[in-house]
Order: sequence, then structure tokens, then C-alpha cells
Amino acid sequence: MPERVEVLLSEEEVDRRIKQIGEQISRDYAGRQVHLVCVLKGGSFFMCELAKRITVPVSLDFMSVSSYGGDTRSSGVVRIVKDLDETIKGKDVIVVEDIVDSGRTLSCLLEMLKDRGPQSVRLCTLLDKPDRREVDVRVDYIGFQIPDEFVVGYGLDYDQKYRNLPYIGVVKFD
Ligand code: IMP
Ligand code: MG
Repeated sequence: MPERVEVLLSEEEVDRRIKQIGEQISRDYAGRQVHLVCVLKGGSFFMCELAKRITVPVSLDFMSVSSYGGDTRSSGVVRIVKDLDETIKGKDVIVVEDIVDSGRTLSCLLEMLKDRGPQSVRLCTLLDKPDRREVDVRVDYIGFQIPDEFVVGYGLDYDQKYRNLPYIGVVKFD
């Protein structure tokens, strides 16, 4: 079934916004060091671009989670598929996500990370679909709020495809 991808946010718009968020984080964490935690795989493209725009010292780590329950709706109970390599104890952590949809994955992840004794934890997402929110999770840095449509690109996939698109697109089936 050949699907089409329509541009929602151009490469220039995305890059410009990531630069702004990087500047904001650099101001907020002035005199400190930030530890970015990327949620694989979707958050990886965003995290790399964001990290390049942050001017305070940065360290990075990666984790991969999967939602129990299977289908398209996330259950809110997440299983760690790949854990962090390093401790977050005492660190100023920023969790970097591709998109917040129901908010279940992020809120569960947040509880797990808080138990590990970080100095602080903030959340940063490239995209936010506020209409889909089921769990109240406070996101500190948001790239763009988007309508309830299925998007790909900049790390986001449809059936593992399109992660490499340098822009955000909407998948159309027609
Ligand atoms: P949540 O627990 O419902 O917030 O799930 C968020 C996760 O669902 C994201 O990290 C994505 O992996 C996936 N997801 C949600 N919406 C989209 C979309 O429009 N395109 C691609 N993946 C999505
Ligand atoms: Mg994700």
C-alpha cells in the first residue's frame, strides 16, 4: 500500500526551533552541566541536533523502552529494553523524546528515573499532540504542538520507515 508523506514542518522550521530550544536550555542551566537522556529510537535525531546547540557542558546517555500491551495505544506500563549506561544520581537530567502523545510512556519513565536520585529531571520533546493526552505530564520544553495526525521524519517512523526524513511529514493513505 503506497502511502504519501506531506510536509508539515520544513527542515528550516525544525532546525530554527531546535536552535531556540538549545539557547533556552543553555540559559536555564547556566553554570551547570546537563545530562541528556535520549529515548531511542525516535529521540535520537532530535537529541543530536539539540546537543549541538547547547553551550553548557553536555553528557549523553540512551535508553530504549517498549510499552506493554502491543497495539497502537500505549498501555502506560513501560518495560526497559535498553537501560542507561551511566548513573543519573545527582545529575541534572533532561529526557529527550520525539513526541508526546497520550503521555503514558513519558510519565511512567519519569517515575522510574526519579527513583534513581537525580538532582533534577526535566522533559523535552520535539513534538506534542495535546489533543491526545490521557495522562497529565508536565513537559518543560516543547518544539511544536501539532494536530492529531500521524507524523514521520526526524526520527519518527511509520513501520520503521521515514526516520531519516530531514523534516516532519504527515502520512497520507489515499
Ligand atoms: P505515548 O505514551 O502515547 O505518549 O507514546 C508516545 C510514543 O508513541 C512516541 O515516543 C512514539 O514512539 C509513538 N508515537 C506517537 N505518535 C506518533 C506519530 O504520530 N508518529 C510516530 N510515532 C508516534
Ligand atoms: Mg518514542
